[in-house]
This record gives sequence, C-alpha cells and structure tokens, in this order.
Amino acid sequence: ERADALPRDLAGCRVVVSAGGTREPLDPVRFLGNRSSGKQGYAVARLAVQRGAYVTLITGPTGGLTDPAGVEMVRISTAEEMRAAVRKHSDNADVVIMAAAVADFRPASIAESKIKKGAGEPDTIPLVRNIDILAETVQRRDEGELPATRVIVGFAAETGDEHGDVLTHARSKLERKGCELLVVNAVGEGKAFEVDSNMGWILSRDGAEKALPLGSKNLMASRILDAVSGLLYAG
Ligand code: CTP
Ligand code: CA
Repeated sequence: ERADALPRDLAGCRVVVSAGGTREPLDPVRFLGNRSSGKQGYAVARLAVQRGAYVTLITGPTGGLTDPAGVEMVRISTAEEMRAAVRKHSDNADVVIMAAAVADFRPASIAESKIKKGAGEPDTIPLVRNIDILAETVQRRDEGELPATRVIVGFAAETGDEHGDVLTHARSKLERKGCELLVVNAVGEGKAFEVDSNMGWILSRDGAEKALPLGSKNLMASRILDAVSGLLYAG
C-alpha cells in the first residue's frame, strides 16, 4: 500500500503500543523469556504513525527490528519496567494497544552471582505473579485516571483445550480484562510466533467478532487500526 493512499483517520491521536516479550532475570546471565518477536506491535506502531497518530512504542528486546520512523521508542526489559513505562506514557493516550507478551511470573528472587549447577539435581525456581498491565490500565481508566483513553486493545494467543475452543477462551478473556477490543491469535503448530503471518479474530465488547484470515502482520495491523478508529468515531 502506498503511504499517500492510507487514511489519516488517526490524525492527532495519541497511541501507546507495547510490543515484544519481557525478560525476567534469574541471575546476572539468565532470564525467563518467550518467543515474541515484536513484529505485530511494531507493525501497528508504524501504521498508526502513517495514519496520523503520535505513537509511543514501549518494547522489550526484539532482536534487531528497525525502529519505525516517527515513533517515540521506549525500551524496557522486565514486566515491571513495562508496567512503569505504560503508566508513565499512557497519561493522555487516546488509545492503548497492548501487543506485548508480558511474562505472567518472575523469579521470586534474583541471584546476585551466577547460579552454579552443583552436584545433585537442580533446585526448582520459585515464581511470583507479575501485575496485569492491561487490566490495571483498564482499571485506571475506569477510575478516571486516564480521561483521554477511549480504546484499550488487548491481545491473546490462544489454543483450544479440554475446557473450550480458541474463541470460547478469548471471549472470557475479553470479559476478564475489560478492554474494548481483543485481538485473538490462534496459536500452535507453528502459527503466529516468529513468522510474518497470523490468523485470528478481533472481538469487541458488543459481541462482534471479525475474522482475520491468514495474512501478513501488516494487514493484521491495518485491521486492528480500522477497528480502533471505528470505535473512536462511533462517539
Ligand atoms: N498482559 C499484561 N500484563 C501481564 C500479562 C498480560 O498487560 N502481566 C496483557 C498482554 O499484553 C495481552 C493481554 O494481557 O494484551 C493478554 O495476555 P495473555 O497472556 O493472553 O493473558 P493472561 O491474562 O495472562 O492469560 P493466560 O493465563 O492465558 O496467559
Ligand atoms: Ca499470560
């Protein structure tokens, strides 16, 4: 798509996007992490600027993705750092898009020196919960702390299991999180992680459900921003 053919429907909008995975340190050389590449969040940030928004991209380490032009970059590593950055930068955001894969848990303590393997079996690693940044952002908005924020977007990578299929899990996640939109990726069998394409749905609070056929993350980004601007202009 040519940049001059893009809609300018986000002109003047302040958009905060989170991207990439977080890293939770175990010791000075090791961390617990995940396979998030950051590509989807970067694609959203890049396109939002092209559609006229002021964009802040809060990102975990991505392994060499190019900074999108015209975006304010904020680099973090841990979930707690991401939380602080989202709090700091969402003050007058119109839209918050949480594409990051935030670690649910972190090691309860960080060893000061490198953990040695010792003689016997390894110890288990005690973990503690990280605060849910998306849910906290919704709560802050609902308590009136984020008066400009009209649309909050969550992401979910889901597989079906014995409790239900991908969409059943996704619908209850949307309810739990309280955000306006949930972008759902069907994962497993090589889908979504570390690849350029995605398959999923965008769910909204009113029960609407838009299928996202297999396509590029750029196409996905444009569908996500279409849904965001649809809500912004709905009044
Ligand atoms: N998220 C967040 N803070 C966390 C964990 C997740 O803001 N500590 C956000 C992610 O950025 C994403 C959304 O919540 O937008 C959903 O993440 P996901 O891991 O699917 O949700 P969880 O509630 O952690 O559920 P699960 O138990 O399935 O991991
Ligand atoms: Ca999670």
